[in-house]
Parts: sequence; C-alpha cells; structure tokens
Amino acid sequence: MAELLRTDRLLVRDWSVADAEAALKIYGHDGVIRWLHELDRIPDAAGMHVVLRGWADEQREMAPGTGRWALVLLDGDTLVGGVSLLPMPVPEADVEIGYQLAPEYWGRGYITEAARALAHWAFQRSLVELFALVAPDNVRAAATARRIGMEWVGETDKYHRTRLEVFRLRPDDLVRARQK
Ligand SMILES: CC(C)(COP(=O)(O)OP(=O)(O)OC[C@H]1O[C@@H](n2cnc3c(N)ncnc32)[C@H](O)[C@@H]1OP(=O)(O)O)[C@@H](O)C(=O)NCCC(=O)NCCS
Repeated sequence: MAELLRTDRLLVRDWSVADAEAALKIYGHDGVIRWLHELDRIPDAAGMHVVLRGWADEQREMAPGTGRWALVLLDGDTLVGGVSLLPMPVPEADVEIGYQLAPEYWGRGYITEAARALAHWAFQRSLVELFALVAPDNVRAAATARRIGMEWVGETDKYHRTRLEVFRLRPDDLVRARQK
C-alpha cells in the first residue's frame, strides 16, 4: 500500500480491500454516513469490499493530486478514518477536501492534523485552493473546516441536490491557522 504522508500521529495511505472490516466502522455507521453526500450506508464487510475495490480502480484513473486515502494511527496501526481530495462536479478544476472518522475517535484532533497535512501536500503540488461542502447542521465538520483555517464563502444548492455550506482554504489561510 502506497504511503502518501505521515504526521505526528497518523499515516495517510492508499486504501486496500483488506481494510473492509475496519472501514465498516466508518462507512457502515449512521452517524458518519448521514453527512456524506455521495455514499449510502455500507451494510456489511462484503459491501465495503466492493466499495474499496471501486475506489482502488478509480484511483488509478484520477488526476495527480486527487484521490481517497485511509487514515491509520502510527501507534498501533489502527485504521480510524478516511480523507479525500476529489474533483468537484462543477467546475471540475475545483477540488473538494473530504474527511470521515469512526465515531470512537472523534474529539482527538486526528482530522485537523490529517487535513492540515493533506492540504499542505496539495498546495506544494501547485493547487491554489481547496473547498469543503458541509451540511448546514454538520457542526463538527464545520468546526474542523474552521480549525484548519477554512473560510466560509457561502451557501449553494448546485451540488448533490441539497443546500451546503461552502468553505474555502488557500495556502495563506493554512499558515495563519497554524500560527493561532
Ligand atoms: C467531521 C469529523 C471528521 C470531525 O471529527 P473531530 O474529531 O471532531 O475532528 P478534529 O480532528 O477537528 O478534532 C477536533 C476535536 O478534537 C479535540 N482535540 C483534541 N486534541 C486536539 C488536537 N491536538 N488538535 C485539534 N483538536 C484536538 C478538539 O477540542 C475537538 O473536540 P471538540 O469538538 O469535542 O471540542 C467527524 O465528526 C466525522 O467523521 N463526521 C462524520 C463525517 C463528516 O461529517 N465528514 C465531513 C463531511 S463535510
């Protein structure tokens, strides 16, 4: 499995179909899935296996600098979440950062740590801005967006047929948030 990056506590690496059982704690959980615009709850490990196989196939076709990755604790090798950089539906040149964590690991700053590192990685590869699309009542996701330095830039219903808050991150925002 190819490693993308490491932070103090986390490894960001490619997904593997061998992650199916652990990934189900994220994508099989109603408390996570209710906030995701592109995925229905995965019912079982066999279903998760199919989804992970699909993600691996898609990854091979994706533009450099985009993809979906697993988030693993360096201490203990436990899979705790997923992060992504995906082209937005309109315009396709824009990139959306996505993040999901198994609920038992919420409240430890893991996504803040991973998202900062992932954004830094993307900006080093010449991306100039990133977006997050957050449901209006998804308080935790919005707090994470703000914590990493994202700025609220408006609301839209042009994506995923639902109203979403749009957050934007530029390289300077990331630096400013780290200095706070
Ligand atoms: C969105 C989601 C990833 C946020 O998880 P999270 O653990 O709150 O995220 P963070 O990494 O930003 O952690 C912040 C929390 O950790 C705490 N924390 C502990 N150590 C920390 C550290 N070193 N750095 C930052 N925060 C830390 C913060 O105080 C905060 O806790 P609080 O909200 O209880 O006050 C998670 O709720 C989730 O998976 N939701 C479902 C999927 C989803 O909504 N995805 C986004 C769709 S747009």
